[in-house]
Amino acid sequence: MPRVFLIDTDTASDDAIALAMAMRAADVRVAAISTVAGNVEVRQAANNALYVAELCGVSIPVYVGAAQPLRRPNAYAHWFHGSDGLGDHGYRPSKSSPEQKGAIDAIIETAFSNPGLTLVCLGPLTNIALALGRRPELTSQVSRCVIMGGALNGGNVTPAAEYNIWLDPDAAHIVLRSGLRIELVTLDLCLGDAIVNAHDIAQLNSLPGPFGSFAVTCSSRAREVQRERSGADGLSLADPLAMAIALDPSLVTRWSEHYVEVETESELTRGETVVDRRDIARSEHIRQAWAQAIGGSKTKIGRTIDVKKWKQALLRSLSP
Ligand code: BDR
Ligand code: CA
Repeated sequence: MPRVFLIDTDTASDDAIALAMAMRAADVRVAAISTVAGNVEVRQAANNALYVAELCGVSIPVYVGAAQPLRRPNAYAHWFHGSDGLGDHGYRPSKSSPEQKGAIDAIIETAFSNPGLTLVCLGPLTNIALALGRRPELTSQVSRCVIMGGALNGGNVTPAAEYNIWLDPDAAHIVLRSGLRIELVTLDLCLGDAIVNAHDIAQLNSLPGPFGSFAVTCSSRAREVQRERSGADGLSLADPLAMAIALDPSLVTRWSEHYVEVETESELTRGETVVDRRDIARSEHIRQAWAQAIGGSKTKIGRTIDVKKWKQALLRSLSP
């Protein structure tokens, strides 16, 4: 029996690669894809997801979700992923269209008709927060909720915050408090040695079949930005790493569990994931200040990965 995945995404370049990985996994059935406003407009995200499904030769229902964060304005990342989210290479529009049904209904129905499914979140958490608002008991239907989001050691969109959590901190706050069995894949895990470097990119590009070269081409804008920023050639593939972990949790060599709170108000630290790494909230004296956070449950966070295994997994999942 294949595992059932439900994927929520703001489909830009690294989301697209992650979608292809899941669609091509032999032991996974992607039951549905829901899209959310984030890197690109929500409809563009749906069109990009449909494009990837066509490329992979599969038919998966794609549902359009929230067109903006719960309380914050949109802030697309065209500068990083291109105006179409896929590097502006003029990929032809997909032949199929998104479903009429909205993503929130689809998330709820998919979860209740596939108990034990794996939910993979690759964008801001707006859709998931809205679905939980309508059916809080959704949490018991989901066996794993793998989320790409947050940062322990500095963000990518502000010094404090990672983009997915920053864009909709209110949604992240709701989801992290919901009781879902979360596996948080933070930005930290796709940096350092985990960056897909020039050598890895060359390997991806030379894979037979369309998927390796698609991964490299659709990431062209992100690669330019990274080169401008760091001076080095490489890609930090946050969503593909989260998907690789959803497909094979043994890529994570160390997990730890902590209270996590999201900053929803401050403009300076909006979207920061405040992680109680030293278990300070346990102290009687501090409990008052952290009463809110203690009210939730601890979140499982990936702390280290097997880098070699991650890169092998990426190459393998894009190989014919
Ligand atoms: C996240 O933001 C987007 O640019 C990526 O798709 C990923 O989901 C990384 O901060
Ligand atoms: Ca994303």
